[in-house]
Amino acid sequence: MTHSELAQAIRRLAAEKNAVIMAHYYQRAEVQDVADCIGDSLALAQQAAKTNADIIVLCGVHFMAETAKILCPDKKVLIPDMNAGCSLADSCKADDLKAWKDAHPSYKVVSYVNTSAAVKALTDIVVTSSNALKIVQSIPAEQPVLFGPDHNLGQYISQMTGRDLALWDGACHVHSRFSVEALIALKQQHPDAPVLAHPECKQAILTLSDVIGSTQALLNYVKNHPDTRKFIIATETGVLHEMQKACPEALFLPVPPEVTEGVGCACNECEYMRMITLDKLYNCLKNESPEVHVDPTVAKQAILPIQRMLELS
Ligand code: 13P
Ligand code: SF4
Repeated sequence: MTHSELAQAIRRLAAEKNAVIMAHYYQRAEVQDVADCIGDSLALAQQAAKTNADIIVLCGVHFMAETAKILCPDKKVLIPDMNAGCSLADSCKADDLKAWKDAHPSYKVVSYVNTSAAVKALTDIVVTSSNALKIVQSIPAEQPVLFGPDHNLGQYISQMTGRDLALWDGACHVHSRFSVEALIALKQQHPDAPVLAHPECKQAILTLSDVIGSTQALLNYVKNHPDTRKFIIATETGVLHEMQKACPEALFLPVPPEVTEGVGCACNECEYMRMITLDKLYNCLKNESPEVHVDPTVAKQAILPIQRMLELS
C-alpha cells in the first residue's frame, strides 16, 4: 500500500474502533499527518487525560504510552512498536532512584516525564520541559529538591531559578550530542538566524542560543515570527515538519551532531521515535496490539505526581 492508501486505511480503522491517534512532534512526517493530535510530552498527557476514545494509539516512545495508560487505566493503550524506548528514561532505574531518595530523606523528588512508571511512582511531582521552570518555582525555596534524570535540563532550571538542585546524571543521546563547533560555524554563516534550542541540550549549546524552550515553545516561537527568514534549530528534527508548515518560506538549519568515527549517525533524529512507521501503526490498530500495561499498584502511585503536574500546568 502507498502512504496515502495506508493513511486512509488507518483513519477508517480509527473511526470504526473509536480510537484516537496521538503523535509526538518527533514522529515521522507521515505519522504526524495521520494523527488526530500532535504535541509535545505535556500536550499528549493532557490530551490523554481528557479523551473520550475507547483506544489510545500513542505514536511516540514507551514512557509516553505508559503515562497515557496511568491516566486512563480503563482504556486500551497501544504503541505501534514496543521497542520504542528512550535513552534518557533508561538512564534512571527505579532501584537507583530509590537509593538516592533514601540517602536524602528530606528532599522532594522532581522527575522529568521521560521516566518509567516505576520511577514516577517514587516521585513527588512530574515535570515536562514545558512546565519544569514553573513547577520548580512553585516549590518553597527552603525545600531541597532531587531533580532527574536529565542533567542538562536540571542545570538550566537551576540557573533560571537560582536554586541549588541536586541533579541526576542522565542525558538524552540526541540532544546532548549537538556539535558546538558546528553551531558556531552556522551562526557565523547565518548571523541573522536566531538559534532555538531544547533545554535537554548541553550548556555550551544553550549559552549560544537565543531561545530555549520545550518542543512546543520552539514551535510557538517560529509561528509568532512569520517574518523571520531563517532559524537555526538545536532539537530533534521531527519538529521541522510542523515548523515548515507554519512558515513555508523560512529556512530551517538543523545543528548537526558531533560524530565520532564509526559511532552513531550524522543525523539528529531519535531512532526510537522513528521506529513508529505507518505500516506498524496500521497493524497495531488492526490487531489492537502491542498493548501497554502498567502494574496497577505502580500506576496508583505514579498517577499522583502526574496529576500534580497537570494541576500546575
Ligand atoms: P518535550 O516533548 O517535552 O519537548 O520533550 C522532548 C523529548 O525529548 C521527548 O522525548
Ligand atoms: Fe528520549 Fe531523547 Fe528520544 Fe526524547 S529524543 S525520546 S529524550 S532519546
